[in-house]
Amino acid sequence: MSAIEQAAKKVQGAAQTVMKKAVEMAPDGWLPGGKPDPLIGRAGLIGQSISRLDGPLKVSGAARFAAEFPMEGMVYAALAYSTVPKGRMASLDIDAAKASAGVVLVMTHLNAPRMKPPPLFMTAEKAASGDSLPVMQDDRVEWNGQPVALVLAETQEQADHACSVIRVTYDPEPAATVFEEAKADTHPGSFQGEPLLLEIGDAEAALAAAPYKVDVSYATPRHNHNAIELHAATLRWSGDHLVIHDGVQAVAHAAWSIAQVFGLDEKQVHVTSPFVGGGFGSKTLWQHQILAAAAAKLAGRPVRIVLSREGVYRVIGGRTRTEQRVAIGAQADGRFDALIHTGVVAMTTHNALPEPFVLPARSAYAASAFKVDVEVAHMDMVANTFMRAPGEAVGTFALECAVDELAYRLGIDPVELRIRNEPEKDPTTGLPFSSRHIVEAYRTGTKRFGWSARPERPGTRREGEWLIGMGCATATYPYYRMPGGAARLTLTNSGHATVEIAAHEMGMGTTTTQAMVTADRLGLPMDQVAVVYGDSTLPGTVLAGGSQQTASIGAAVAAAHRGLIVELLELLADDSPLAGLEADEVGSRDGGLYKLGAPERFASYIDILTQAGRDSVTVEAKAPPPLEIQHWSMHSYGAMFCEVRVNAVTGETRVSRFLGSFDCGRILNAKTAASQFRGGIIMGLGLALMEETQFDERNGRIMNPSLAEYHVPVHMDVPEIDVIWTDIPDPHAPMGAHGVGEIGITGTGAAVANAIYNATGKRIRDLPLTLDKLL
Ligand code: MOS
Repeated sequence: MSAIEQAAKKVQGAAQTVMKKAVEMAPDGWLPGGKPDPLIGRAGLIGQSISRLDGPLKVSGAARFAAEFPMEGMVYAALAYSTVPKGRMASLDIDAAKASAGVVLVMTHLNAPRMKPPPLFMTAEKAASGDSLPVMQDDRVEWNGQPVALVLAETQEQADHACSVIRVTYDPEPAATVFEEAKADTHPGSFQGEPLLLEIGDAEAALAAAPYKVDVSYATPRHNHNAIELHAATLRWSGDHLVIHDGVQAVAHAAWSIAQVFGLDEKQVHVTSPFVGGGFGSKTLWQHQILAAAAAKLAGRPVRIVLSREGVYRVIGGRTRTEQRVAIGAQADGRFDALIHTGVVAMTTHNALPEPFVLPARSAYAASAFKVDVEVAHMDMVANTFMRAPGEAVGTFALECAVDELAYRLGIDPVELRIRNEPEKDPTTGLPFSSRHIVEAYRTGTKRFGWSARPERPGTRREGEWLIGMGCATATYPYYRMPGGAARLTLTNSGHATVEIAAHEMGMGTTTTQAMVTADRLGLPMDQVAVVYGDSTLPGTVLAGGSQQTASIGAAVAAAHRGLIVELLELLADDSPLAGLEADEVGSRDGGLYKLGAPERFASYIDILTQAGRDSVTVEAKAPPPLEIQHWSMHSYGAMFCEVRVNAVTGETRVSRFLGSFDCGRILNAKTAASQFRGGIIMGLGLALMEETQFDERNGRIMNPSLAEYHVPVHMDVPEIDVIWTDIPDPHAPMGAHGVGEIGITGTGAAVANAIYNATGKRIRDLPLTLDKLL
């Protein structure tokens, strides 16, 4: 970096600091969320239990997923994967594959088109790639499982067979595949451009001086993504235009990123994603879409690529492994003097996510001194990536187990200990909480769960062979709203509205909930509102991730609604009951506009448009930048309660009861939110009890790339899960709502582990909590 560049960087850094301070100090009213969303407190559809509008399409098979788009002349792709972690290909024999029945093309680095490396997630506004490695551009291998050849054939079976007869030999190079060795040389972790290290006071000294303490280490393994829908894309070129139907969580990001790879304008790439069969952070841009597009170009044929289940494990990153230290120093009354949460994660040099497990510790508890940090050990492996609550899912396991351990040491009820350390403002940023009612979630939860029946001494409740125990833990996940939200709103003279937005339906019920919210905002019945989404040509760069899509869309629709009011006021006849009013004086109700505070001054949408001789009005608007998250400390919360039965003979754990008591602002659709909570908790039960990627440290290869050997919870593993919520609106969030997509997987692992301790007196600090560790 030149001196000028360094100086420029310093100025930019200083400007950012000043901006950040200014947003922190600004009067509430200047910021998004400064005035409560008028929808808060209005009775309507919001809060009701409404079934997913796409439900009938899904159960009848009419919902079309990425791998179900037919294309004339389409061929099928299969991938061959490297078997060494690092090195060069010494020989590549594709003759048998080329001669195999039905084969149209064998693509390797020798004939692949020249492409730029994919833009790595978070390095640009619309960067969507899980890693930044060049895709099939040379003979290099950077991880065990990297695609080394792609076959196109007339059928999937022909492509798979041809792939199986490709022979590759390697000149291997030394690779970092042993975590203990990689840990010898760690690097500071950073997330979203900020260092993860944060120190307030002298936490080690405060810990040393504290009369009560825990200082313990926890380990969590790698996890792989196992969405029901395999990663898939169907695509074709027409000239320099690429159409790609992709099960992706970020259509706008994918279109832009693929355009960069092929040196195109983003408008030359059209990505659709009408339905996603589960994403959880994995359905972004990976090598398979790029390779399929490159092969389609070479072959001049449309291509469908569907990764095999093994292919998902080879090509798509998952959650990385962590080793975490949690140390808490406390007074006899339980108040924390010091909170230390540090550790090491495995990560590649070419991806963006250091599994930021310390984020919960930054705002969960009051303490006088803090030290939190994530160090990164570089390994040669498939690029790790986002997986439901990346950071928080495993970070709350360590933090919330340590709080439990301290509670036993102090002889204080674990719920009570948490409540005693409830902060009044964000303990590390000093920002006020926008809305935090976790104590209420605990109080309601303890009553509902029957927490008072918990055996105080571990290992003391037994029914036959079964040891029974209860545990609790705090769930927490940040409220995010990402920049780039925009929406187009069309209102017709029949009183129907259409919202268009580049959003995604991954099974969460996004479109259903947005139809409800938009109907309430416009004062229309739900069946007069259509939501159009899942297409990169639509407005906005709304990503389905970070549990923020709903807030992002909500803010964009609110802005579009305001634009609509402005347009409609301009169309008013002079004798309209609303003539002469400003947009700020007007709201929507009952299919029209009215004067705020004087509901009798009303004009229906149909009348306004008909009298103006208009068929429809269309407005497009952008959501304001998400400054609220720099002005308030905003999070979703939950109090998780678990009851387990551990078999004293076999060590088998059965979760017998689970309650999630949530505080996530206002709940928009009770049915789909409950489903999100339960889904998160079920994934958390998998994290607690069974999920583990077996990584062969001799060669960096994943050894259990199938659902037969990588265990996820099935129906028999999951009890009836009870979920409740405070339903207290956040006055500073659109609709008063916080995200609900990821919160359920946080805290769950610790609640299970704490219940197992209560049942057995055995404290297991490394996941998963399998029976061998309990015998
Ligand atoms: Mo999520 S890991 O933000 O899809």
